[in-house]
Amino acid sequence: MIETERLILRPFTADDAADLYEYLKEPGAHCFTEMKLASPQDAEEEIKRRMNDELYFAIVPKDVNRAVGEIFVHSEPNERKDMPDDTFFPCWMLNLKYSGRGYAYEAASAVFDYLFRNRGARRIYAYADEDNLRSRHLCEKLGMRQEGIFLEYVSFVSNPDGTPHYENTYQFALLRSEWEKMHS
Ligand SMILES: CC(C)(COP(=O)(O)OP(=O)(O)OC[C@H]1O[C@@H](n2cnc3c(N)ncnc32)[C@H](O)[C@@H]1OP(=O)(O)O)[C@@H](O)C(=O)NCCC(=O)NCCS
Repeated sequence: MIETERLILRPFTADDAADLYEYLKEPGAHCFTEMKLASPQDAEEEIKRRMNDELYFAIVPKDVNRAVGEIFVHSEPNERKDMPDDTFFPCWMLNLKYSGRGYAYEAASAVFDYLFRNRGARRIYAYADEDNLRSRHLCEKLGMRQEGIFLEYVSFVSNPDGTPHYENTYQFALLRSEWEKMHS
């Protein structure tokens, strides 16, 4: 569990299923389309997957005391088997009723700090679609460098005529040395 000024970042529990359903019945970004939940019963199944992954954090503001979103982190296997995994890839998602309050930044900063200090992170990178201005802005606020733009990189949804809609995807990254410099 991680505590910040306004938030508790904690593992999911079975009691969070209704809150999960509320933000996954209509995911707020194309890249989460596959996570869309059809029913509250599906949320009860989906929550079990989150409960079994220690890098899935429910974002719980202390004053509302419910899961208003999540930040989850993938650990990337090191190419060198003789070295620890030190590259992490976070994704964030809020119930959009709760966006615009600084919760995503507060949660992501705390998780970055945890990864760099406690999990041996050397590099954290993130993707954001070109039209996802909020997520791109969040990456920039966190001090991440834009490393590139991949044109027509991936498709999550179809256009109205049935053809795949390809996203231009921005990649951002941050090294532990950069984070330490920013926070020294
Ligand atoms: C991406 C996403 C997590 C960003 O959430 P967000 O709430 O916009 O992000 P932030 O935490 O940065 O907060 C935004 C604003 O809240 C404002 N805010 C309001 N009250 C605040 C407070 N008390 N403290 C701090 N900030 C506050 C901030 O000023 C900030 O705006 P600014 O950065 O222009 O100053 C959210 O839009 C989302 O879930 N989108 C759908 C899923 C998604 O796209 N995921 C990413 C896929 S790549």
